[in-house]
Amino acid sequence: MTRRVLSVASECVPLLKTGGLADVVGALPKALADHDWQMRVMMPAYPGLIERLATDPEILWTDADLFGGTANILGGKVDGIDVVLLNAPHLYDRPGGPYSGPQGDYWDNAERFAALSWAAAAICKAGLGDGWKPDILHAHDWQGGFAPAYVRYMKAPVKTVITVHNIAFQGHADPAKLAALRLPPEEFRADALEYYGALSSLKAGLVAADAITTVSPTYANELMRPEFGMGLQGVIAARAATVSGILNGVDTEVWSPSKDPELAPYSAAKMAGKAKNRAALIKEFGLGEVPGPLAIVVSRLTAQKGIDLIPGALDEFLGRGGGLIVLGSGEAALEGAVAQAARGRPDRIGVMIGYDEALSHRMFGGGDAVLVPSRFEPCGLTQMYGLAYGTVPLVAATGGLADTVIDANPAAVSAGVATGLTFHPTDGLAFGQAMRRLCALYEDRKTWSKIQRNGMKQNLDWSQSSARYAALYESLLDA
Ligand code: ADP
Ligand code: GLC
Repeated sequence: MTRRVLSVASECVPLLKTGGLADVVGALPKALADHDWQMRVMMPAYPGLIERLATDPEILWTDADLFGGTANILGGKVDGIDVVLLNAPHLYDRPGGPYSGPQGDYWDNAERFAALSWAAAAICKAGLGDGWKPDILHAHDWQGGFAPAYVRYMKAPVKTVITVHNIAFQGHADPAKLAALRLPPEEFRADALEYYGALSSLKAGLVAADAITTVSPTYANELMRPEFGMGLQGVIAARAATVSGILNGVDTEVWSPSKDPELAPYSAAKMAGKAKNRAALIKEFGLGEVPGPLAIVVSRLTAQKGIDLIPGALDEFLGRGGGLIVLGSGEAALEGAVAQAARGRPDRIGVMIGYDEALSHRMFGGGDAVLVPSRFEPCGLTQMYGLAYGTVPLVAATGGLADTVIDANPAAVSAGVATGLTFHPTDGLAFGQAMRRLCALYEDRKTWSKIQRNGMKQNLDWSQSSARYAALYESLLDA
């Protein structure tokens, strides 16, 4: 019998993406269908999204007053995914991004995502207009955090899961908003909604959900420790028995070098195309000859991602023949630092500040190595794209990076299992050392090509992880 799960999130590929969360939310419905779970994705109807539905939108729910205005829910399909869009113009119809506009974060983000969570819980209680009613509510990150809590307050007959994609964002709000957010005042306690005097929607979800997941086994362990838990380590550790880490997968329809429309095709068995893509990428960025490894970075340029470590290692890396191409946007200081590095060595360093999906494919196709020196990384997707594309990942040994890349130490190389380079801790010294190892490895052509092929043979698709989500949902219903 097909069972039903309502996924509640603030972004979803192909409708809106600012990071890996959207990739995961968009991939899960297709992957879960193989396990007889029907998932609908609920997200805000940001401007322009309703028009993107492939089917005529159907009104499935209405509310005359959802946190200060009228709202309805429109159901439809996009790229085969069943989506339900919460259409509440007073909350979502604004120019700018999903979380912030030109003036910074929206003043009412607490209300905006509490409304999404509240409507999700209401659906769990009463079902949608077409008779669809979930068995499981699956909330993502702080934006969905209040949903498991509202489910409890409304006594909606579903089991709940919350997935932490990034503990750095916790949905803090002024406790004076308690009533406006339809939260029971007596729940403002240290063991419920209260977080150091504020409200936290993420904490609300962590406390209320039947199960907590995060996006890699190592991050599940790290989250219970002060170095990574960002103040919520105790809350998560107290619920350790319900915590699990399920690795993200890769959408292999989109990320396969043998059928990538941006590339000369190649595969582990036929690598010739990769050299063509490398040459084309070097030309696209106007670089000169790059005799050493051509490293790429495709990333948000933020402190989390350890981008600040890169400039310090560049002189020596370029001296050994390396080249670097960076695609990303984020903090102004980091954008400035990489742009400045490129101005100093335009023959070896290329930088594109911005977001460009097609270019990212050409970079994975043409690069030799992908750098991911993150300070923390719940899962990380780009190291997996690197594996799939024979673009050897050089990563900090943290979170999902540690779970997906096998370091090319002598033991792993002689056993024939290495897939990349890992370093620890995330500091300039360890990163510099890893970059030296990268140059040496690149010169050892036989070992290098073995490592590339090992990566390309990994099973990175969603089959294993979706089976784990399905098993988790089933265990909750059986409990
Ligand atoms: P995070 O979600 O923390 O940003 P992930 O590695 O999980 O990190 O996911 C990032 C996603 O966004 C990947 O799909 C990556 O390719 C993509 N991405 C990041 N920056 C850019 C960019 N500037 N242009 C194109 N794609 C990008
Ligand atoms: C977050 C994390 C990233 C993870 C993504 C999807 O954005 O920073 O590591 O891959 O969510 O789960």
